[in-house]
Amino acid sequence: MKTKIIAGLAIYAVIFFGGGLYVLHLIGSTTSRLDNLIMLHQVEILREHYLIQIRRVQTDLAVRDTRFQRGFDAMVSHVLAMERFIETCFDCHHTPQVETRLTALQDHTRTYEEAISRVMTVRANESRLAFEKDSAFQIGERLTDEVSEMIALTGARLEASTQKALATIRTTTLVLLVLLALGPVVSIALGFILVRGITRPLGVLLESTRRVTAGDLEHRVRGLTYEFGELGDAFNAMARSIKEQMTERQRAEQMAMLGRLSAGLAHEIKNPLAGIKLAMEVMAGEESLSEENREIAHKVRAEVGRVEVLMKSFLTFARPPRPQPAEVDVRAMIDSCLSLYSRSPRLAPDAPNGIRLVRDLWDVPTVTADPAQLEQVLVNLILNAFEAMPAGGTLTVRASSAGGGSAVTIEVRDTGKGIAPENLGKIFEPFFTTKPKGTGLGLAISKQLIDQQGGDLTAESEAGDGTVFRISLPAASPGSGSPA
Ligand SMILES: Nc1ncnc2c1ncn2[C@@H]1O[C@H](COP(=O)(O)OP(=O)(O)OP(=O)(O)O)[C@@H](O)[C@H]1O
Ligand SMILES: [Mg+2]
Repeated sequence: MKTKIIAGLAIYAVIFFGGGLYVLHLIGSTTSRLDNLIMLHQVEILREHYLIQIRRVQTDLAVRDTRFQRGFDAMVSHVLAMERFIETCFDCHHTPQVETRLTALQDHTRTYEEAISRVMTVRANESRLAFEKDSAFQIGERLTDEVSEMIALTGARLEASTQKALATIRTTTLVLLVLLALGPVVSIALGFILVRGITRPLGVLLESTRRVTAGDLEHRVRGLTYEFGELGDAFNAMARSIKEQMTERQRAEQMAMLGRLSAGLAHEIKNPLAGIKLAMEVMAGEESLSEENREIAHKVRAEVGRVEVLMKSFLTFARPPRPQPAEVDVRAMIDSCLSLYSRSPRLAPDAPNGIRLVRDLWDVPTVTADPAQLEQVLVNLILNAFEAMPAGGTLTVRASSAGGGSAVTIEVRDTGKGIAPENLGKIFEPFFTTKPKGTGLGLAISKQLIDQQGGDLTAESEAGDGTVFRISLPAASPGSGSPA
């Protein structure tokens, strides 16, 4: 948006600065044309005066020796005035061409003056006087023609220059009018574009704020660009964070309620269950009991045992025990955990549907965690892996350091049936199970326990291609991994 505003204002400035410069140029050239015109007019006036002066002298010559003859002094003053006019012409700067022409004119004027001077001085011979008068008159006529021709030429140039000056003035007026008309139009257009560029995204943001305030936390700002785009992204991040926090709070409230409920429920159920279990044990021990009824008593006892386990899991999930942190040697912890399964018939080398156990334990840094809770999680994951490979397979438990020794990763990998993509996002939710007798609490509790240690539990799976669960824990002190 900032770039748009700057570009708009720059175009605006360039148009008017350029227009202003062009108008200045036109005014400058018009002024110089007008100066030229004034000068041409002055030259025209000068030439006309010069012509009048020649005509005066010609008249003096024509009326000489008649009763209209002017005095000698008057005639001399007319000749001198004529000479002064031609000299005035040399006061100005001329092109070499004009200079040559003026010099020729001055020469002609001098020839004329000399002829006049001879007329005025020759007295004795009548016929000589007549000849000189005639010759002076002829020179005067030629001079008159020459000056008249020059005046006609100057007139034509004067006309052309006047037309040019008028054309320049018309162009200047036109450009000024265009600039005057363009000013408001460009201002309005620019203002409209800028105002629209600001009000539209502001409207979108305002509408989004209203919708989020009204509780529509799924609403997202879209279609904004430049700085408003960044603002939109920040708004979306804020809406996402509010939603996450609200979900988290709701979950915490639900868990607290579940905790209270299950604690009460467990308390109420525990004693009657213990009573039933004991009664069933006593009943099963009765000699008079038929074999069929003894079987039933054993089944009831087993089912009561299942309910007890479920109650325990439920209680652990609703009110997870506080972790007792200690420095844990991960490799030792995994070894102790795997030793629990060492006698499992499924791990026997010749077992049908047997499982091959691979230990891939590196020398990893210690972690600060509750060892019992960590072991509980590992048992859960191994149990799930066993259940995922009913036809046998390979179970790999791997410990390695990550993040340059700043974290430890424990992987439990199986080659079982895998998890369907639509279920992958649900496996950590409480009570999600695909097993007929499963509680769906194993992974939910495991995730909770790992979260409590400041770690993370994730799953990766391709349906039909096995599953890997990854526990990440921050290292207590940095170290580097090497094979065990
Ligand atoms: N290694 C695995 N391979 C394939 N699916 C798995 C694996 N681990 C867990 N799952 C899936 O995740 C679901 C939830 O597991 P979770 O441990 O929470 O409960 P459960 O195993 O079903 O029940 P319980 O733990 O009480 O026996 C399982 O039902 C199963 O569908
Ligand atoms: Mg399980």
